[in-house]
Parts: sequence; structure tokens; C-alpha cells
Amino acid sequence: MNTSLFLTPFTINTVHLEDLGKICSALIPFLKKQDVIALYGTLGAVKTTFTQYLLQQMGVDKTTVTSPTFTLVQIYTPEKNPPLWHFDLYRLTHPEEIYEIGLEEALSTAISVIEWPEKLGPYLPQNHLAIYLDFNSTEPNARTLTFIPQNAWIERYNELINSLSSLNT
Ligand SMILES: Nc1ncnc2c1ncn2[C@@H]1O[C@H](COP(=O)(O)OP(=O)(O)OP(=O)(O)O)[C@@H](O)[C@H]1O
Ligand SMILES: [Mg+2]
Repeated sequence: MNTSLFLTPFTINTVHLEDLGKICSALIPFLKKQDVIALYGTLGAVKTTFTQYLLQQMGVDKTTVTSPTFTLVQIYTPEKNPPLWHFDLYRLTHPEEIYEIGLEEALSTAISVIEWPEKLGPYLPQNHLAIYLDFNSTEPNARTLTFIPQNAWIERYNELINSLSSLNT
């Protein structure tokens, strides 16, 4: 039986890009090894920028975080957090190719942040936190963020949402 659990999405309507760091900083205490963050959003939605802020909040120099557009994956080793594998699957031709670039290792040893997770089809792990980044209809330098925790993430849902809700963004 395929039981997939998910709760009501949590949306922050207007997040100015310079406030992404605050969101990431609130998210980091909830992250642990084997977690998957699926970043959904069209071209330019700021998926890579979000990952840069996440790594910056983990102590990685933001300028060293570049889009793995051609390599498909880039690995970071923050000092105080588990390794973070940053995937950009836009150029993935077949979902199976993900195993050639080490998805299994990432899933067992690291935090995986995945741009274009829809490219994984059935291989996207059910245990993931989906974050949707949508352009804001009124402010070009802002985005609407929607969080949808699934399966194992549900245990952390209330605390995560409380933490995100208390941000002054
Ligand atoms: N603070 C900011 N203010 C204004 N624009 C910004 C800011 N931060 C990032 N941008 C712009 O947002 C754009 C998109 O960023 P990003 O590369 O993160 O998108 P993406 O969702 O990863 O796109 P892709 O699907 O191509 O990977 C870039 O052109 C970048 O210059
Ligand atoms: Mg990108």
C-alpha cells in the first residue's frame, strides 16, 4: 500500500529576497542527515539563491556556492551541520541517471537539496520537505514560499511552522 502523508501547506505570502537568510536560519535547526528538501519553482524562482542562503547560514562562504547546472550536483561540508548535496536536475534526461551522480549516498549520509525535483519522477523520496518558490504578483524582489512537509517531516511540522511564523519577514 502506498501511504503518503502530508499536512496543510504553510504559506508565507511575501518574502523579500534579502529575508531568505532568516527563513533558512529558522529551518536549519530542524535539518538532519538523510533529509531531503525539494525546491520547486520555475526558472529564476530563486532556488539556487535559497540554497546559497541556506549554506551561508551554515557557515559556508556564499560566494563559493554556485549553481550545479552542468555538474548536476555540488557537495558542501559545513563544519557544524551534516554534508549538504545540492542537486540541480534541470538537465537530467532520465530519472535513473540520478544514481550515477550519487543520490543513494546523499540520501544516507547527507542533507539533499534538490532543484527541479519533479525530474526525479518516482525516485523522489517520499520523506521530504517540499518548498514552493513562486513569483510574487506585486513585488518583483519578493517570492511567495509554501512549505509542504511529507511523511517523516510531519513530526517536525508544528514546531517548524511555529518557528517560521514567528519571523518578521
Ligand atoms: N537579493 C536579490 N535581489 C534581486 N534579485 C536577486 C536577489 N537574489 C537573487 N536574485 C536574482 O534572482 C534570479 C534567479 O536566481 P536563481 O538562480 O536562484 O534562480 P533558480 O530558481 O535557481 O533558477 P534556475 O531554475 O535557472 O536554476 C537571479 O537572476 C538573481 O540575480
Ligand atoms: Mg538554480
